[in-house]
Amino acid sequence: MDWVDATYRIESDLPVRKVAEIIAMEESTGTWTDVGTTHRDLTDVTAVVGDVDEKAKTAVVRYPIELFEVENVPQILSVIAGNLFGLEQIQKVRLEDVIFPRRIVRAYPGPRYGIPGIRDLIGSEDRPHVGTIVKPKVGLNPAETARVAYEAAMGGIDLIKDDETLTDQDFCRMVDRLPMVMEALDRVFEETGRNVFYAVNVTTGPEEIAERADLATKWGANMIMVDVLTVGYTGLLELRKNSSLPIHVHRAMHGAITRDPTHGISMKVISRLVRMMGGDQFHVGAITGKMDATPDEVLPLDKILTDEWFGLQPTFPVASGGLHPGCVVDEVKHRGTDIIIQAGGGIHGHPDGTRKGAMAMCQAAAAATMGQSLKEFAKGNYPELRTAIDKWGVGKKEDYYG
Ligand code: 3PG
Ligand code: MG
Repeated sequence: MDWVDATYRIESDLPVRKVAEIIAMEESTGTWTDVGTTHRDLTDVTAVVGDVDEKAKTAVVRYPIELFEVENVPQILSVIAGNLFGLEQIQKVRLEDVIFPRRIVRAYPGPRYGIPGIRDLIGSEDRPHVGTIVKPKVGLNPAETARVAYEAAMGGIDLIKDDETLTDQDFCRMVDRLPMVMEALDRVFEETGRNVFYAVNVTTGPEEIAERADLATKWGANMIMVDVLTVGYTGLLELRKNSSLPIHVHRAMHGAITRDPTHGISMKVISRLVRMMGGDQFHVGAITGKMDATPDEVLPLDKILTDEWFGLQPTFPVASGGLHPGCVVDEVKHRGTDIIIQAGGGIHGHPDGTRKGAMAMCQAAAAATMGQSLKEFAKGNYPELRTAIDKWGVGKKEDYYG
């Protein structure tokens, strides 16, 4: 029989094994008291307790595949991440990871493009991709947005994206913004021969999301983006099934779910689901920058997105949040070149403007690809990079690097 093995970290006055038994019962056949409503043997749909580590406070609950409707991700989540979080006997519990069998993983399409497809479209090989988020995150009109996109693209980056809160507000309607940005990127192609992505944010409710993706295609988009946690996993799946555009996935709201190390759901689980649902690029945080994350948390996520997994395409990990050129070498040194490094403030806040900021980020990416130290590399003829380092320094979280 196939099983779904979910690992929970448990805080309770009860022994960990006892709590795992309570979870197994609550999330499969049980309730809080005996019931006499069936006489059939329910073994096929009964969860059982697997490995328990009382010291580490972790337990594996094994759910038989018969419990699940394999193509119904909300139903799967209602089991492995359902009522258990609110049970009175469990003060805190965190779903740390989940191992799905092939039958469930392959019930989902995975990325249409993945890292190889995205690299083909850009024409890149062994180097990190560099992206930017247009800033200010809201408030620019379509023409201003297109101008910023043009400058950033001329500076050499691979990807421009809307911020997670910009969708189709009155001050910057998608119908106006998207064609203007694409026209700017066409000019960049004519002038430089380089393809640049623009990820237009189609985040909205279930009745409209596929329609927005269709409109995006009609208006010339070459990538769409979605805030997967506010929309829901099925929204991402809907986009994957109904749109042929690459999908950039943002994780806004994840902190409410993932940040407490003793309660909630870990980014590992979210990363697995995003890859299964078809995200081509996914924000998993950075080991430098402004967001709360340690390397121990971030590096395993890169592996979840990129390791061989029943033949699914690998999802491009995205590092973002308070990054600037001084962060790039550290990110690549520890995470490799299969990464998209994004900067909003770290590009548009460059003292000499967006284009120079983008150039500085690309110079830092070149240093990283060559395995050079940023300070050494910046001594070459790279005034844009030097200016950025003078403003923001090199790296952050220095304690990690000693
Ligand atoms: C993101 O959505 O990743 C952020 O907008 C990054 O912006 P920043 O680089 O200015 O922190
Ligand atoms: Mg943002």
